[in-house]
Amino acid sequence: MSYILAIANQKGGVAKTTTAAGLSGALVQEGYEVLAIDLDPQANLTIALGLNPREVRHSAADLFIHTEKLASLTQATSIPGLDIVPANREMELSERFIPLRKNHELILRQQLLASEITSAYDFVVLDCPAFLGAITTNAMVAANLLIIPTQPEYFSLHALRNTLTQVRTVRQTFNPSLAYRILITLRDLRNRVHRTMSEHLLNTFPDGVLKTSIDLDTKLRESAATGMPVNFCYPKSRGAEQYRALATEILEYVREKNSIPA
Ligand SMILES: Nc1ncnc2c1ncn2[C@@H]1O[C@H](COP(=O)(O)OP(=O)(O)OP(=O)(O)O)[C@@H](O)[C@H]1O
Ligand SMILES: [Mg+2]
Repeated sequence: MSYILAIANQKGGVAKTTTAAGLSGALVQEGYEVLAIDLDPQANLTIALGLNPREVRHSAADLFIHTEKLASLTQATSIPGLDIVPANREMELSERFIPLRKNHELILRQQLLASEITSAYDFVVLDCPAFLGAITTNAMVAANLLIIPTQPEYFSLHALRNTLTQVRTVRQTFNPSLAYRILITLRDLRNRVHRTMSEHLLNTFPDGVLKTSIDLDTKLRESAATGMPVNFCYPKSRGAEQYRALATEILEYVREKNSIPA
């Protein structure tokens, strides 16, 4: 079985895509086979992993609109061990078409259970749009673990609350075992609000916040333009180091749950 990690938050610009790319790269470096799936019409993960969305003929949208098989949509990236299902503009239609289908919440989960996927990948990483609609619901229904990147600022709390409400709904309906962890991102320790809010998050969710936090690092911004995850283009940067630490923490968590071989 592949272990499914969804990266979602109702809030935009909180490093969901940066986390999807950074974590995927770090897991590949640990020797795991990883499939990254870009579920966002903005196609930022597709770009960050070196593909041009305008040249993408078959995207994740085919899964939702044309009932295409997931296994036929995977593509290699320039990083051995890292494949992608890219996104393109057609993803915008998915959000409208998905609810028209029967059992639409289960579309992605059922596709991820195909033997071509489970036998090929140790991890699947789902990058979601900043919208708690049908696409994000599909990702949460499919996921073993949801990672919620959260900037330690006041405006983040509202979106976090809404995201957690969605988690509860998904647990009550299609995925009772959905786990979640909050990942503090874009943290600037010189900023008093960031320090206070990071503490507040830790106090409010004592077991729900990952030990690893991701600090501001311009190399993470620049890595998107290289088409490679940060640990492949800037392996010595702070961002690379922190995403490696995140991968280690996630691997420990997954091993504790006996979900993957050590
Ligand atoms: N730790 C960091 N340090 C500096 N810049 C960062 C960091 N993490 C992300 N960024 C930058 O912040 C911006 C938003 O990040 P990203 O696109 O990953 O967020 P997102 O949550 O996926 O956004 P969206 O909601 O639009 O999908 C990008 O320009 C990215 O390069
Ligand atoms: Mg994004």
